[in-house]
Amino acid sequence: MATNKLLHMNGGFGETSYANNSLLQRKVILKAKPILKENITRVYRHIQPDCLNVVDLGCSSGPNTLMTASEIMGIIHAVSLSLELKAPAFQIFLNDLPGNDFNTIFQSLPEFYSKLRQDKGDNFGPGFIVGVPGSFYERLFPDSSIHFFHSSFSVHWLSQVPKGLTSNGGTALNKGDIYITDTSPPAVRRAYCEQFREDFKLFLKFRSVELVRGGGMVLTFRGRLEDENPSTTFNLVGKVLHDMVLEGKVEEAKLDNFDIPYYGPTEKEVREIIEDEGSFSVERVEFSKLGWDADMNESNEGSNNIEDGVAMKAKFVAQYIRAVTEPLLKTQFGEAITMDDLFLRFTNKLVHLMQLNDLVYNNLVVSLTKRQTNA
Ligand SMILES: C[S@@+](CC[C@H](N)C(=O)[O-])C[C@H]1O[C@@H](n2cnc3c(N)ncnc32)[C@H](O)[C@@H]1O
Repeated sequence: MATNKLLHMNGGFGETSYANNSLLQRKVILKAKPILKENITRVYRHIQPDCLNVVDLGCSSGPNTLMTASEIMGIIHAVSLSLELKAPAFQIFLNDLPGNDFNTIFQSLPEFYSKLRQDKGDNFGPGFIVGVPGSFYERLFPDSSIHFFHSSFSVHWLSQVPKGLTSNGGTALNKGDIYITDTSPPAVRRAYCEQFREDFKLFLKFRSVELVRGGGMVLTFRGRLEDENPSTTFNLVGKVLHDMVLEGKVEEAKLDNFDIPYYGPTEKEVREIIEDEGSFSVERVEFSKLGWDADMNESNEGSNNIEDGVAMKAKFVAQYIRAVTEPLLKTQFGEAITMDDLFLRFTNKLVHLMQLNDLVYNNLVVSLTKRQTNA
């Protein structure tokens, strides 16, 4: 099933919105800033355009969306000052799937522009923000029109549930689970890996055509170590759904036919695909780690004892998982169960797990330059 009609994060500013539950991603994006700075500075110094065309792919809606735009403008402003050049104008394209809450972004633009003028002065830019609805697994821009692509926490979303998860006879191969687990048959692992390979290759091919000569790209997305468990949190959601099947609240076939269109690759897999596709030189690939609770400091969160602290962390993680998976889960199971019930059960399982283990949120930061041999 294609994800472009189904996938979006929870919109708005409510308790379960992505806007309110994206601190974890924000922290990782900020950690990756030196890599972003290195790549975009090189692009700017090399090309020195009058107007810098930058794209954020999979921008979602919330504080992170305009933070990246603002970071990029700030970096280039500082570089142009140091080179005694007039800062360029900026055209910042915010891309996401059509179901994304673009309205919330657009409503925040007047305040964003006004703060930009306040911080950087009237002679800065100007900056123009443009919304681009569409899938990044398709062409989004004219040939050789973009200087720099950025994407955070989006490229691990696949274009569709992996094709190979259904046998030729139409039988679901990943019965009872919603992602790869420790005990998944090799065919399930292969299906996920193959879908990522196909999607990421297409992504690289399209972006290389859209980039100008010497253009750059920095991607931050979920990754995993070679020997790491596939995804503890998604598997826990699978266990909750399994419990609900046993209680007769969810149809077994619905669970058997549901799989998350997500894949966290290893560094080796990513390097192989980039090399195989051939349009980009790798400047850097770095692993970035954070606790799943965004390394929150318990003493700052008002907790009085360890149990309260774990419960609070589990709630934080559950809210994050809810913000990114609720629309998908609602489409498949929504009429039978309430999301409050599902995520309460999920939180309880998380508390138990977090008392035993530290959950680590692993990410890859990939910095690329378009190869000169490509027009
Ligand atoms: C977790 S959010 C990341 C938002 C923001 N970049 C951040 O770092 O906080 C992932 C976003 O990627 C978008 N996305 C997933 N697949 C996509 C695709 N094929 N094309 C465009 N956007 C996509 C989702 O709709 C979602 O808004």
